Amino acid sequence: MLIDDIAEILITEEEIVARCKQLSKEINNEYHDRQPIMVALLKGSVPFLAELLKNIDLAVEVDFLDVSSYAGTESTGEINIRKDLDRSIRDKEIIIVEDIVDTGRTLTTVKKYLYGKGAKSVKVATLLDKKSRRVVEIEAEYIGFDIPDYFVVGFGLDFNQKYRNLPFIGVLKKELYS
Ligand code: IMP
Ligand code: MG
Repeated sequence: MLIDDIAEILITEEEIVARCKQLSKEINNEYHDRQPIMVALLKGSVPFLAELLKNIDLAVEVDFLDVSSYAGTESTGEINIRKDLDRSIRDKEIIIVEDIVDTGRTLTTVKKYLYGKGAKSVKVATLLDKKSRRVVEIEAEYIGFDIPDYFVVGFGLDFNQKYRNLPFIGVLKKELYS
């Protein structure tokens, strides 16, 4: 069973659902009568996006972006796009939806990319934040949980593309990835 690979449950499903409800309310208040586009980064953010959407009370649009950074080019902000946005985002307000901020490289690059496409504003909602790992300075506006430097899986987060379907955030047993 998948759960046999988990050393510890860090955040339960109930805690995630409750926190997402709070974040959705914050987003509702901040954007009240406006219509931001929620841009989810594939694939890890999908369960978080779904959980947020349940309580978003705005005429939002949803789009997906799948990117990978070119190794060694973080400073130039160059990215490899596997799946681009479906529509123009010129003058639009964007909320990036991400599973976890680690070094901060992905988000920094994606933010630059979205501003390059003419976005009016770009904010970030992340389920998890590992602040101790940051290499590039970046702050998400909406953070589900700050976590220590553990390798975690579940609720969208993977190890070698697996464990995304676990309904909680768990710490993977060390012998499985070291
Ligand atoms: P960053 O560019 O270093 O901030 O990397 C963020 C990306 O690394 C996330 O979107 C995840 O795909 C991946 N990542 C970082 N930490 C973890 C983790 O603990 N578990 C699973 N994926 C992680
Ligand atoms: Mg990711």
